[in-house]
Amino acid sequence: MNGEYCSVDEAAIPITDVGFIHADAAYDVVSASRGYIFRLQDHLQRFERSCHSFRLRNPYSAAQTSAILVRLAQLAGTREAYIWWCVTRGAMPEGRERGNPEAYQNCFYAFAIPYLFIADDAMRSRGLDLMVSRQYIRIPGRAVDPAAKNFHWMDMKLALFEARDRGGDFAVLCDADGYLTEAPGANIFLVEAGTIVTPDDGCLEGITRRTTLELAAELGLPARVEPVAAERLRSADEAFITSTAGGIMPVRSVDGVPLGAGGPGTETVRLHNLYWDKRWRGWLGTPVEFRC
Ligand SMILES: Cc1ncc(COP(=O)(O)O)c(C=O)c1O
Repeated sequence: MNGEYCSVDEAAIPITDVGFIHADAAYDVVSASRGYIFRLQDHLQRFERSCHSFRLRNPYSAAQTSAILVRLAQLAGTREAYIWWCVTRGAMPEGRERGNPEAYQNCFYAFAIPYLFIADDAMRSRGLDLMVSRQYIRIPGRAVDPAAKNFHWMDMKLALFEARDRGGDFAVLCDADGYLTEAPGANIFLVEAGTIVTPDDGCLEGITRRTTLELAAELGLPARVEPVAAERLRSADEAFITSTAGGIMPVRSVDGVPLGAGGPGTETVRLHNLYWDKRWRGWLGTPVEFRC
């Protein structure tokens, strides 16, 4: 918390921080598996871009931020870690200075907790039942840029509740024209006749998404990044979502209709296995040194 380390239970932000009041913040998340933080530099670079988009200043340099995140993983004492950090705008200045980004003292907060999957073991083994949201669209880029990682989650949270109300367990949101964007906290992929496809716009440029495209090239799977109409998802052979909080997670049905054979698809499983195999060997990993 602004340079102090404490237990997660004791950590608190000032209630007047507009990060809390106005969702005025940028954040990012890395994960550690078997003691290696995955693609830390890529996450740090994305975080700096998010801060830049929102006119926020990280009080720490990238090197200092990196050292803080490694230190948090060490203090948490777990090799399987979920490490989250943000820069908030800070407390509101007086009167007309509210419109002056220079008048705010931006704040840095971070935590490390045991690794979490956004879909539990049972859901990942059988595949997710995905619902394309009917009620909500993803917030458009000209409102809040989804390519800059931000606190505006209400569209995604409500779509998740809607999916559950309709008997599903995960949601995906479209844009105003019916093209797929992303899922709550995850990117969306489909597999059509052996080609993997993911939306080009309206979504975060996920680090797991980028990793999946690289793994697909390694497996010789053709890939396309392009506008994807929602109907294509319903008729796809396979689908999966990708996130730091869970890796590559299979989808088994869309809007109640099974995809392919109705379980995790063949190419999805190949990508999933390669992802974890490489991560467990420390691929693109920053080692966290523990004393014991
Ligand atoms: C809105 C959104 N989309 C996509 C993702 C996946 O990005 P990454 O693979 O970098 O975790 C996230 C991650 O939290 C997210 O919040």
